[in-house]
Amino acid sequence: MLDKIQQLMVEVDQLQAATAEEVEALRIKYLSKKGCIPALMADFRNVPAEQKKEVGMRINTLKQAALDKINSLRDAAQVAVTAGPDIDLTRTPYPVRLGTRHPLTIVKNEIVDIFARLGFTLAEGPEVEDDWHVYSSMNFADDHPARDMQDTFFVEAHPDIILRSHTSSVQARVMEQQQPPIRVICPGRVYRNEAISARAHCFFHQVEGLYIDRNVSFTDLKQVLLLFAQEMFGPDTKIRLRPSYFPFTEPSAEMDISCHLCGGEGCSFCKHTGWVEILGCGMVDPAVLEANGIDSSVYTGYAFGMGIERITNLKYQVKDLRMFSENDTRFLSEFTSAN
Ligand code: DAH
Repeated sequence: MLDKIQQLMVEVDQLQAATAEEVEALRIKYLSKKGCIPALMADFRNVPAEQKKEVGMRINTLKQAALDKINSLRDAAQVAVTAGPDIDLTRTPYPVRLGTRHPLTIVKNEIVDIFARLGFTLAEGPEVEDDWHVYSSMNFADDHPARDMQDTFFVEAHPDIILRSHTSSVQARVMEQQQPPIRVICPGRVYRNEAISARAHCFFHQVEGLYIDRNVSFTDLKQVLLLFAQEMFGPDTKIRLRPSYFPFTEPSAEMDISCHLCGGEGCSFCKHTGWVEILGCGMVDPAVLEANGIDSSVYTGYAFGMGIERITNLKYQVKDLRMFSENDTRFLSEFTSAN
């Protein structure tokens, strides 16, 4: 046994390999499960007790020597590849790790896909907006508190130019370009002047929906939102609409879904109510249609808006909003998508 170890020690010391494939063949020969060093270890139990200590030490030294040698051959083969005449110094180093989509992108795509199947097309607008598209055209009175410095980021030199605080501004952008029928879904980033914490951030993401045509009713809105909730959270999901107020819709509502963690039984996530709020919605206020050049005596419409972070938290129970913008790949790589 000791002779065999000694012989392998010499052999290992003299190993040569030019390519990564040759290195791999050596690894298999010496170190893989069926390789000769593990085979020695298997024979170890037949070694007489008084020799066990020395043989054990020598086998371990041999194994370490083989590991070191093969690793250094692998490094050398790597250098040989990259130091060739066609060397590309901008190439990503090995191994190339495939990135993953951001969880908010995954959820946004899922929301957009569901509405695309219902005939909604994608519309986008600028993040740096003017007061008209964010507030005035959406029927916010001049002294509405949402325009307050607390919420809105203003560009100091141009008080009319702001960072949009909701994606409802895209409704106005679409209406000024297009007459009904309008059926759009508008994802995007929005900004609010909030202190950053686990539950609030100065930027987040929303998806806005807008449908305007002849004879659009609240029933249509409810049906589409029920379908959305069941596609997103599962077929047993229930919805409930509570009366609410938004300047741009009348009547307005907020929608809750049955808590999909406890199935509506009540748990700490839904604060033991069995329901969680996911979006705001309503019938487009005729004043908004008129402000945007659409005849409110002919057309009616509905609109809704939801936070993508909120939907993502519900789906994946992310406890801290800040995780979404910290670029920690340990967190990001936990999310996978089909495309
Ligand atoms: N813009 C609202 C917000 O940021 C969300 C919203 C509510 C959008 C109702 C809508 C709607 O289109 O109908 O809180």
